[in-house]
Amino acid sequence: MTTSFPDAGIDLRELLSFYADAGVDEALGEEPADRFAEAAKARASADAAAVERPSPPAPTPRENSQPATGSVPPSPAAPRATTPPPAMAVPDQAQAAAARELARSVGTLEELRAAMASFDGCNLKFTAKNLVFADGNPQADLMLVGEAPGRDEDIQGLPFVGRSGKLLDRMLAAIGLDRNSAYIANVIPWRPPGNRTPTPHETEICRPFIERQIELVNPKVLVNLGGPSAKTLLNTTEGILRLRGNWREHVTPSGMPIPAMPTLHPAYLLRTPAHKRLAWRDFLEVKTRLRSLQG
Ligand code: URA
Repeated sequence: MTTSFPDAGIDLRELLSFYADAGVDEALGEEPADRFAEAAKARASADAAAVERPSPPAPTPRENSQPATGSVPPSPAAPRATTPPPAMAVPDQAQAAAARELARSVGTLEELRAAMASFDGCNLKFTAKNLVFADGNPQADLMLVGEAPGRDEDIQGLPFVGRSGKLLDRMLAAIGLDRNSAYIANVIPWRPPGNRTPTPHETEICRPFIERQIELVNPKVLVNLGGPSAKTLLNTTEGILRLRGNWREHVTPSGMPIPAMPTLHPAYLLRTPAHKRLAWRDFLEVKTRLRSLQG
């Protein structure tokens, strides 16, 4: 069997391994789809529609500028602004509001897990195999929150069970802890397809669930693993290299402050081993804080 497209000079084995390296590890359709042909067809019909569509009227200056005093009444004859609102804004805001409502309505972690399993407002759920809710001991003093599950986590339905999870286990062991003495979850509980970065909308939709999860566990100390967890839960736009190593506060939806230590994500440490010493310092800080809170 030949494994190449001679005309295009493409080696199929190389193409497949490129996809695998990029995180594309499964086909979602039963039948192969020719996306090049589909894109060409879509372009052709968009071009045809553009030829038939009359050009929109040129915007008047008032449409593009704010009135100086805000007191000019709108004229009934004034042409309407031609830019439609972003198509996804309303549905996503509605889903985030639904998630907030649902998260507020639950009183236990088991209820929260069931609520998240029944929630259909985040598109990531439909490409993920499993809900990745949490692992570890919900009675623990320490809770760690990562970004989003990867392939191994999606398959097993548990957070941090792949390569970065193995490193996280070693980091915990270095301060005398394991999954019986720590509780682990993610900001996003469903694997983004191909491990892509979750969009801001997806993060906003999932945020109420992780906030409620933290509130229900009520740990003495929170550790944010990586920038996305730190930014989402500490309400900051600062980068993780600036944030790490300094105590912050996570404030729960009911207003309770929890000491939080942002640190480097294990996946980053696997790529940048020279920075492991920084994470080591952060974990020692956490150990000291936990000791002081115990006694
Ligand atoms: N990275 C994360 O942020 N979370 C996981 O569960 C696994 C990898």
